[in-house]
Amino acid sequence: MRISLNEASHILCTGGVVAVPTETVYGLAAALNQPEAIERVFKLKGRPANNPLIIHVPNEAAIQPYLTTIPNQFQLLANHFWPGPLTLVLPIDKSKIPEKARAGLPTAAFRVPSHALTRELLEQTGPLVMPSANLSGKPSATQPEHVESDFGDCFPVLDGGRCKHGLESTILYFNEKDWQIVRLGSISAEEFIPILGYAPEVVCSSKDKAPICPGQLYRHYAPKAKLILCENPDNCTEVVLGFNDRLYSKAERTIILGSTNNPEEVAENLYAKLRQLDEENVLSAHVDINFPQEGLWVTILERIQKAAS
Ligand code: TXA
Ligand code: MG
Repeated sequence: MRISLNEASHILCTGGVVAVPTETVYGLAAALNQPEAIERVFKLKGRPANNPLIIHVPNEAAIQPYLTTIPNQFQLLANHFWPGPLTLVLPIDKSKIPEKARAGLPTAAFRVPSHALTRELLEQTGPLVMPSANLSGKPSATQPEHVESDFGDCFPVLDGGRCKHGLESTILYFNEKDWQIVRLGSISAEEFIPILGYAPEVVCSSKDKAPICPGQLYRHYAPKAKLILCENPDNCTEVVLGFNDRLYSKAERTIILGSTNNPEEVAENLYAKLRQLDEENVLSAHVDINFPQEGLWVTILERIQKAAS
């Protein structure tokens, strides 16, 4: 059910839950000061209680009252990437943030989104917690229809159209010395070099280390269809998730993710195409993963690998 901005604001301020567009993916929003609504977000998604939520705020100043210390280069990151698809895990005064939202951690994840509707809503409601608006384990929602497919046609959705980035925010954590990427996302590691002077190490994808970002423990982004990763386009058979500038001679048919020259376009389409497999009852599909291992492609490959695992 599509609702207006004022309806969304009213529902959130009176303890309800609504789906909200952002520039990355749709979020399942509850007001930070409504503990029962936060509880409902976990229930609706089927989300484990030890997986904390991101707190979305209208601007950087709104974060300051929660913080105990300001990590090195925080201001540079905030000035450059906010509003936008960056989430920062920061040390907080635990008494100021509900335990449930931060899953008992001494830190909280914050983000200032750039989507015009989200910003207007946040101005009215104040801080909102928002995990991605999908059932736990499924691909994130990048269109209102995806939210309705997971939560039913009657579920209230603020319609902001298709999400521009199509992949979640990049999450950074400060380990006392350097910033590290604890979840790959819409901002590539290389994009931090001009700001921080280095590309943050990606600590999430390592199998040897315990993840700092609890969400990385769980299965993600997966359609029901079995995905077979294919490094040689000539070996892709049956239904192929691939690119419009390649020929798949052995394919029965191809579902187009975009062009190999345009990772932004592929990112924007990825979750919709993974969802399309289930809508069309495809049982298994080959995914062409013959693309460079740099920039946004690194996030795209990580999402495909998780979807296939
Ligand atoms: O783009 C996004 O980030 C979207 C939109 C809606 O803003 N949100 C999103 O939320 O992706 P979610 O809940 O699907 O993923 C949040 C991730 C989880 O993996 C969680 O473990 C991690 O953020 N996280 C939250 N608080 C954390 C904390 N204090 N320390 C480490 N990781 C944290
Ligand atoms: Mg999610």
